[in-house]
Amino acid sequence: MTQDELKRKVAEAALDYAKGVAVLGIGTGSTVNYLIDCLADIKQQIDGAVSSSEASTERLKKLGIPVLDLNDVGTLEVYLDGADEINPRKQLIKGGGAALTREKIIAAASRKFVCIADQSKYVEVLGRFPLPVEVIPMARSYVARQLVKLGGQPVWREGCVTDNGGQILDVHNLSILDPIAMEKEINNIAGVISCGIFAMRPADLVLLGTEQGVKRLD
Ligand code: 5RP
Repeated sequence: MTQDELKRKVAEAALDYAKGVAVLGIGTGSTVNYLIDCLADIKQQIDGAVSSSEASTERLKKLGIPVLDLNDVGTLEVYLDGADEINPRKQLIKGGGAALTREKIIAAASRKFVCIADQSKYVEVLGRFPLPVEVIPMARSYVARQLVKLGGQPVWREGCVTDNGGQILDVHNLSILDPIAMEKEINNIAGVISCGIFAMRPADLVLLGTEQGVKRLD
């Protein structure tokens, strides 16, 4: 099976976690795009979704699924989103699609975070995927220097402006042995909007698309 087929399979499996939920949290990315397309079949059962990006908002709206403001909804029952890396503790790297800040907000505001991904995303130690860090534009060089002190090699994702007006540094060569400590340390650098380590609030359940079928990591 191709990577795209595995993404589609896992998105179909995730539909079970969306059924009967009034308002869903919806992430961003190609795996989530498959999920949004599947939601069209059950859209009569849901009141709407809180979206983590303008891209997902547009896709949801095209299918006739109302997009709601998190401030009007309060705590969400379920958040469905993809990831760039997943470790055995269900801690993640996210932000390949530059939507990490809104994704982190929705994950924090949700009771259950179901992460959906193909098997290539599973790793023992986070950090092979360059870690996205969203920054206030004027702080980009300063933050980059601090990230070098932490052992990383930050590369500016030129031309990328996030939905929040931020910029992205992709940090290469970090071996993230203590994801919670690293997440806190990067969050504390002045000018960082958010960092793509999701360790303080990991996924509750991972659905992994594999050649042998969809595996659950509880
Ligand atoms: C976007 C993300 C995505 O969840 C992540 O990049 C995975 O994307 P895909 O499903 O396309 O592999 O964090 O900011």
